[in-house]
Amino acid sequence: PTRVRVPHLARWKAEGRRWAMLTAYDATTAGVLEEAGIPVLLVGDSAANVVYGYSSSLPVTLEEMLPLVAAVARGTQRPLVVADLPFGSYEASDAQAVTAAAALMKAGAHAVKLEGGVRARDRVAAIVAAGIPVMGHVGFTPQAEHAIGGYRVAGRDDAAAERTVADAVAVADAGAFAVVLEMVSAPVASRIREVLAVPTVGIGSGPDCDAQVLVWQDMAGLNDDSRLSFVKRYADMRGVLRGAAAAFAAEVEDGSFPDAAHSFDA
Ligand code: KIV
Ligand code: NA
Repeated sequence: PTRVRVPHLARWKAEGRRWAMLTAYDATTAGVLEEAGIPVLLVGDSAANVVYGYSSSLPVTLEEMLPLVAAVARGTQRPLVVADLPFGSYEASDAQAVTAAAALMKAGAHAVKLEGGVRARDRVAAIVAAGIPVMGHVGFTPQAEHAIGGYRVAGRDDAAAERTVADAVAVADAGAFAVVLEMVSAPVASRIREVLAVPTVGIGSGPDCDAQVLVWQDMAGLNDDSRLSFVKRYADMRGVLRGAAAAFAAEVEDGSFPDAAHSFDA
């Protein structure tokens, strides 16, 4: 299959075609998501939580992200693989940002994503100038949780709405090929979609976005700690996996596994 590339996403926006993005962190899951037809996979810094067990995204390092990016790239043929620049890997300078983005590309990513609007526009421009496609991320930006003061919907009053629109415009003007809108009030997200020439990818930002993204474990009901009201669970994978593991253990304990069909008699 031909690989989804950045120009396809521009074409889909022109055609009014919506698309789905999910996170992925390993080859097996990425392959399943490819089979499901998901065109864009994000190796998110949410790996901090769902892979590494940290309680926020702040601790995960570039070195911890690289093998996950490589695994997702090796495990897929068609999806565009976007990799998050983790906290601390791009804030210090444009040079640091380009070096970190290049490391993600060498690991197998086809594009990178970084958080921040007006404050990050120079970083976006520097990475784009290095020939690396950049996805922006504005609204609530989890890496800045402590500056923002917690998980907050962006754009709720007029001043905040103007700031959120300005953030999205800034990263698009700096050359981003798409912009994630996280926890942006639905009317503001709708306005941003109108203003931007590039696709908007919503998460907790209402229906009027060109694309939608979720963390796959949230989408599939594998996490039990998903308190986020914007997450919809499309399956009970936690229940399925727990049930399978418990059935396996019970059969091992009572001696019914392995039976003859799962043994070699010669
Ligand atoms: O890290 C992540 O998973 C993300 C998405 C949820 C947008 O940035
Ligand atoms: Na992220």
